[in-house]
Amino acid sequence: MKATTVLSGFMALLPFARAFSNPVLYEDLADVDLRRYNDTYYYSASTMHFSPGAPILRSYDLANWEYIGHSVPQLADFGSKYTLSNGERAYIRGVWASWLIYVPANGKWYWGGCTDFWNTHVYASSGSDPAGPWSRIFTVSAKCQYDSGAMLDDDGYVYTSYKDNGQFWIAQWSQDLTSIIKTQVVYTPLSNMTSIEGTRPYKINGTYYIFTSFPDAGAEYVLKADGDIWSTYTPKVFLQNAVPASPLTGSIGQGALVDTPQGNWYWMGFSWSYPNGRIPVLIPVNWGSDGYPIPSLVDGKINATYPNVATPRPLAPTTGIDKFTGSTLGVHWEWNHDPDTTKFSVGSGLKLSTATITNDLYAARNTLTRRQLGPISTATIKLAYSSMADGDRVGLAMFRESSAYIGIWKSGATYSLNYVNNLLLADTSDNGWQTTSNGTTVQSQTISGGTVWLRITSDSTPGGNNAKFYYSLNGRSFTLFGPTFTATTSWQFFEGCRYAIFNFATSALGGSVTVNSFDIKAGA
Ligand SMILES: *[C@@H]1O[C@H](CO)[C@@H](O)[C@H](O)[C@H]1NC(C)=O
Ligand SMILES: *[C@@H]1O[C@H](CO)[C@@H](O)[C@H](O)[C@H]1NC(C)=O
Ligand SMILES: *[C@@H]1O[C@H](CO)[C@@H](O)[C@H](O)[C@H]1NC(C)=O
Ligand SMILES: *[C@@H]1O[C@H](CO)[C@@H](O)[C@H](O)[C@H]1NC(C)=O
Ligand SMILES: *[C@@H]1O[C@H](CO)[C@@H](O)[C@H](O)[C@H]1NC(C)=O
Repeated sequence: MKATTVLSGFMALLPFARAFSNPVLYEDLADVDLRRYNDTYYYSASTMHFSPGAPILRSYDLANWEYIGHSVPQLADFGSKYTLSNGERAYIRGVWASWLIYVPANGKWYWGGCTDFWNTHVYASSGSDPAGPWSRIFTVSAKCQYDSGAMLDDDGYVYTSYKDNGQFWIAQWSQDLTSIIKTQVVYTPLSNMTSIEGTRPYKINGTYYIFTSFPDAGAEYVLKADGDIWSTYTPKVFLQNAVPASPLTGSIGQGALVDTPQGNWYWMGFSWSYPNGRIPVLIPVNWGSDGYPIPSLVDGKINATYPNVATPRPLAPTTGIDKFTGSTLGVHWEWNHDPDTTKFSVGSGLKLSTATITNDLYAARNTLTRRQLGPISTATIKLAYSSMADGDRVGLAMFRESSAYIGIWKSGATYSLNYVNNLLLADTSDNGWQTTSNGTTVQSQTISGGTVWLRITSDSTPGGNNAKFYYSLNGRSFTLFGPTFTATTSWQFFEGCRYAIFNFATSALGGSVTVNSFDIKAGA
């Protein structure tokens, strides 16, 4: 407490940099949607199979962001497979390419998106605070507004843009967003715009635009209407193969446009940068005499820095120690699928009771995750493990379709420390992501004492990509354990590699552990 006070007092005296650096936030926060309300910006992102879904972040300068909540409180609304029960799973389904909007006349925030390529859902905040609480207000079955974006027009109606059957559509919603009044095709892509996606509609000075992404060509297009929202749209390339500043390498797309109260414009897209994920990059935007937006590039490239959008405001940091002393989990946390809420508690540490009997980490409920912080970060948990049951496995993982962990196993009366890798999921297309390996124990030794610190240091730069695992018996000196782990860098799993805390049973439920703290810091 004292250290924090001293530190923030010190921070207040530091002069702010005059420029922001890209990436503005080195975390997996894909399919950016941005909204400004007065002087405050809000950011919504995709979370696929992680719960709660669709995190909301807040900023006053577009460069410093803090998590404030989630729009989708539980994924079970999408179907029982989102709870990892009855042998079902929903890896990479769930929340993706969705939108967030505020409707002043209703005094509410709304989130919308399509799940399972099939159903469209709308959620609303209970009042004007985007932190929530949120609840579902609308579902249309068997009608997917694929990769949709939203816009509030001067007539008070919300319009969404989306792709269906290879064409671009606009839908007009009722003012309370609980029904769709009209839908119409507005644009048929050119023959070279195959697999175009991620639509975002805007009305700027009376002109309608739709931003859309063409990842196969590393391109972002803007469609501009020649009349009202239902009129004819003409495309122009906005960005193509624009490489972001080092250490990011992947091309940029699927972003959102926002203006400042002073009338300056910015576009934020994401760079495909696995294993970390899809990382937000912010670019100033100017307008050409033809009425199309132009990104501010330097020698055709996205610059590492640009002048500040507004006076930077320090916000709640992503780093730091969480001792789980609150009455609910902090807003940074997301579970792998919906948790069994009867099997965990917070207040004095995080108590995780085993929730599934399995040998498969990917089938176990109540795995709690945090995005890793690029380019290099270190996560440490303090774990009290003396209430484990025979056969239980608890640990700290690098979690993606190929995972590794350091953890404690209990076998009879004996506890062992294990490094396990080769935990694998593979895409079977028809049947989703299925487990093809339950892991290989590479290093093991007995352990005692009831308390252990487990640590992972991860370099998630595309060129670096290595994670090292450590343990400590006193919280001060850490010992490297097991080989260096290299995460997968393919995009097909969509979500980036995360830190994950798990506890599952292999023979019977009843055991538990307490995570006294989780500490995440930038660097090794
Ligand atoms: C936003 O600005 C409007 C118009 O100036 C004002 O009425 C409203 O109270 C402001 N809202 C917030 C949340 O600051
Ligand atoms: C697709 O074709 C149009 C019309 O020929 C051209 O202007 C555009 O640049 C092409 N797009 C890409 C990504 O090559
Ligand atoms: C919108 O119109 C105003 C007033 O004509 C002008 O100052 C501004 O630059 C325009 N903005 C855009 C994005 O065209
Ligand atoms: C581009 O980055 C360089 C180095 O950080 C900086 O000096 C320059 O002002 C930047 N250009 C723009 C347009 O912001
Ligand atoms: C993983 O373990 C589960 C039992 O918990 C088993 O059903 C499954 O076949 C195993 N998978 C592989 C690939 O060995």
